[in-house]
Amino acid sequence: MTRLDSTRLFCLLCTLCLVGQVLGQDMPYEEYMAQIQACPKECRCPPNFPRAVYCDNKALKSIPKIPTHTWYLYLQNNLIEVLSADALRNATQLRWLNLNRNKISSEGVEEGVLSTMSHLAHLYMDDNLLSSVPSPLPASLEHLLLSRNRISKIPAGVFIGLDKLNLLDLQGNKLMDEDVTEVSLKGLNNLVQINLAKNQLSSMPLGLPPTTTQLFLDGNNIEKIPASYFKSLPKVAFLRLNHNKLGSSGVPKNVFNVSSILDLQLSHNQLTEVPLIPSGLEHLHLDHNNIKSVSGANVCPVAVDTVDDSINESVPRLRYLRLDGNEIKPPIPRDVILCFRLLRSIVI
Ligand SMILES: *[C@@H]1O[C@H](CO)[C@@H](O)[C@H](O)[C@H]1NC(C)=O
Ligand SMILES: *[C@@H]1O[C@H](CO)[C@@H](O)[C@H](O)[C@H]1NC(C)=O
Ligand SMILES: *[C@@H]1O[C@H](CO)[C@@H](O)[C@H](O)[C@H]1NC(C)=O
Repeated sequence: MTRLDSTRLFCLLCTLCLVGQVLGQDMPYEEYMAQIQACPKECRCPPNFPRAVYCDNKALKSIPKIPTHTWYLYLQNNLIEVLSADALRNATQLRWLNLNRNKISSEGVEEGVLSTMSHLAHLYMDDNLLSSVPSPLPASLEHLLLSRNRISKIPAGVFIGLDKLNLLDLQGNKLMDEDVTEVSLKGLNNLVQINLAKNQLSSMPLGLPPTTTQLFLDGNNIEKIPASYFKSLPKVAFLRLNHNKLGSSGVPKNVFNVSSILDLQLSHNQLTEVPLIPSGLEHLHLDHNNIKSVSGANVCPVAVDTVDDSINESVPRLRYLRLDGNEIKPPIPRDVILCFRLLRSIVI
């Protein structure tokens, strides 16, 4: 066999392998060929992953025509200003659309461009110039990432019908109290995580669905928490309120006595007292407040003298406690240690 022949044979084998892989992905050969041939010249379409189109980091000013059989489209890190309905006309099978770090404004989102993508599950539009949550959105959406835009408006009803949406990231925008309400959030029936950090909220957001498990509100101007706020959030487990303006007068003594809470972060506020620590809480961040003292009698969720040597369900679960950046003088009182028997780490 000549060298040329062996090269040819090798290529033939490659092609056969490729077709095998493509068939493995359940993509008919005609679709595969159409997809590869329609690959925009600005983009990369890996033959062994034919449903993905990579057009990221190309200084693109506009979206090229996206081929029909694309499921995963990467357009991040460009200079795109318009989410063009024409360029995306055939891309109705998209599952995953990454538009992070572009220059798309709300005016640049052409009418109906997203609603035709009836399989779209992940929409990433972090670091753009949006002033409003894009609308209408497809009902298939599961993750919607809109961090660091200029969003000051959630159109009424924009989430209605979005029963699969479980992650909504709106951090680093310009939302105020009146923008986050029962009306604007209506429809988020399966939301698990909502990130509203670094907005302009001065109260706890209203209308969060009872499915909410992770609530991130760091870096707002929140001063107080209504006494029964968490009654409507029976699943909340991760709660971050770092860098707000919470003083102890704004934090009712029992407000965090919610059995679902595992991780509570209240760093960089103006608390002067340790709030009641629920029995199930595992991580508590209270650093950089104005707390002067801590005593077991005040913070232990059960009577300290009933915590005996037998470790059973009633023992408070706290494992990690940060109290540094306060005015507490060591040592840590003995009754605190006696109360939180599972404590592994305490920073003071
Ligand atoms: C859409 O697909 C049709 C048929 O394959 C093709 O003729 C047309 O140019 C495509 N349009 C865009 C915008 O990609
Ligand atoms: C905290 O909640 C538990 C269970 O809901 C309740 O039994 C307990 O009395 C509450 N503690 C305080 C101090 O309110
Ligand atoms: C569990 O511990 C608590 C407090 O330490 C105690 O009052 C209770 O009797 C114990 N229960 C069991 C079943 O050991």
